[in-house]
Amino acid sequence: MDRSAVEAVKARINIADIIRRYVDLKPVSGRWMGACPFHQETKPSMSVNEDEGFFYCFGCQASGDVIDFYMRINGLEFRDALEQLATEAGVELKGYRQNQQDVERSRRKKLLMEMHDEAQHFFRNCLGHAVGQPARDYLKRRGTSPEIIERFGLGYSPDDWHGLDNFLKGRGRMPEDGVEAGLLSKNQKGNIYDRFRGRLIFPIKNLSGRVIAFGGRIITDGEPKYLNSSDSPIYKKGEHLYGLDVARRSMNRTRRALLTEGYMDVLSLHQFGYEDACGVLGTALTTDQVKRLAGLCNRVDLVFDGDGAGRKAALKSSRMILLQGAKCRVVLLPEGKDVDDVLQEHGRDGFEQCLDNARDGLDFCLKTLRDDFSPREIMDWAGSFLSELKDPALAAFFLPRLAGGLGLSEAELRRTFTGDRAPARGRNEPAPAASPAPSAVRKAAPREKESRNDRTYLTFCIKYPEYIPYLEGQEMHSVLSTEWARALWEKLRVMQPGEDALSRLNPEEKSFFIQCRNQLAENPLNGQELQQEWSFICNSIYETRKKAYLRYLRENIRLAQEQGDRALLEQYQRAYQEFLGRNQ
Ligand code: CTP
Ligand code: MN
Repeated sequence: MDRSAVEAVKARINIADIIRRYVDLKPVSGRWMGACPFHQETKPSMSVNEDEGFFYCFGCQASGDVIDFYMRINGLEFRDALEQLATEAGVELKGYRQNQQDVERSRRKKLLMEMHDEAQHFFRNCLGHAVGQPARDYLKRRGTSPEIIERFGLGYSPDDWHGLDNFLKGRGRMPEDGVEAGLLSKNQKGNIYDRFRGRLIFPIKNLSGRVIAFGGRIITDGEPKYLNSSDSPIYKKGEHLYGLDVARRSMNRTRRALLTEGYMDVLSLHQFGYEDACGVLGTALTTDQVKRLAGLCNRVDLVFDGDGAGRKAALKSSRMILLQGAKCRVVLLPEGKDVDDVLQEHGRDGFEQCLDNARDGLDFCLKTLRDDFSPREIMDWAGSFLSELKDPALAAFFLPRLAGGLGLSEAELRRTFTGDRAPARGRNEPAPAASPAPSAVRKAAPREKESRNDRTYLTFCIKYPEYIPYLEGQEMHSVLSTEWARALWEKLRVMQPGEDALSRLNPEEKSFFIQCRNQLAENPLNGQELQQEWSFICNSIYETRKKAYLRYLRENIRLAQEQGDRALLEQYQRAYQEFLGRNQ
């Protein structure tokens, strides 16, 4: 990692300016507060510290610097986030990608994105001109407004085997690149031709608003009804959501996503004022998609056809959303209707009625289980649901609710679930929701106390770095008991004043560091309190070292006794007595 590039980006970009794009920030006594976009909440509990360049959520402990925030909210890899922010900041990432393969991959991606821009230009142009008449008629018949056509950048691919192909050639593009982009197709004879012909075109964009793929609906008779871009280096099916780049702004306000299945459904929802709507793009909802949504809002309202297949899909999707810790509701439509039908036929009022009848996601799951599942299937469902919950706190939340909803005792349900989980658990981790085995408790206790001391020392160092040289003098490294603490101490020890500390730290260290700095900003100690804290630390270090020294002497006394070495034994015993005497 090129630290100087990271530091340059962070020096030029104000974290509050970036966060403000996604979250309303209000000034609260010298810092910024806003609703945390990473968990469900109503009261704003995320604080943004402009001076030190970090954010911290009191509710879910999400924290990090501007790059962390940007990665997480946009679902990006570190490299991509850094690159985008560097571009904004005008920082050149020279020498950042040392790896030849990475250079090549990023060059390809850039090329494919550019070709998508060109294709988008072509399709839109076609829709606006004579050749696009059939598509314009089609949109008119479907009642799509000009504003929506514009907002979503709809286009038309003429019924021509070489329309886009020739257009791209005219811009100097290689047909093979068009195939890799998923824009053109190649048959077995090796001939290359337009993938989309005679179709209404829906551009699919990433969160930064760049076109990365297309969907196309046939507007005459023909198969298939919808055709999407094939996967490419810039587009993977199941990672993106249709319309999310547009919906994101409003989701930030409503804290909800309306999730539907079809392209036209998304368009109609926006047209009728539901601007937090997006679509799953012709596949079953994926975990990637849910994670992306959960980063932007706290509730997903799933809209499904009320028939059997729709209910089954709703069960699967709500399970996935609940597993991610987000809230969800299920909106069932009249059988055989989709949102677009409801809105076009009955307007907002028609859809509002459906919304009024929406069920809470968990209740919906429980009712569907009770109605349609055998006892065996119910237990399997509940067991696998609980065992897939990564977060013990969430498991604790769901356990009684599931048990209640399914008419089981909590103990009974917990057995299924801990039975499933046991093999996956690390050897020394305490059991999650069930009470831990007694042996685990006994073993964990002393370690916990030591690592608590480690945390106390390091918290102090991070809050008051000016004391670090004194702590070095007291050989602080020798009293730290965990590997983690020793590694962090080593980094703190060599840190220069004014240096960007965060870029040296790994994610775990970083979150600890921010927590400490945040504590300092929230509750600065006055002179006397600081004095007390400092003597407490010194005393505690002294006690720890004393205990270690006495343990060392006792060990040697025992060895000398075993070996029958009287001289040595006396020597150690004397040292032991003297030390105790001195320390009375
Ligand atoms: N879909 C797809 N490929 C298909 C059929 C469907 O990708 N061959 C996806 C599209 O995203 C489509 C959604 O599944 O919008 C729902 O399909 P369907 O209900 O058949 O179409 P509608 O969205 O209702 O489209 P329309 O209203 O234009 O008929
Ligand atoms: Mn439809």
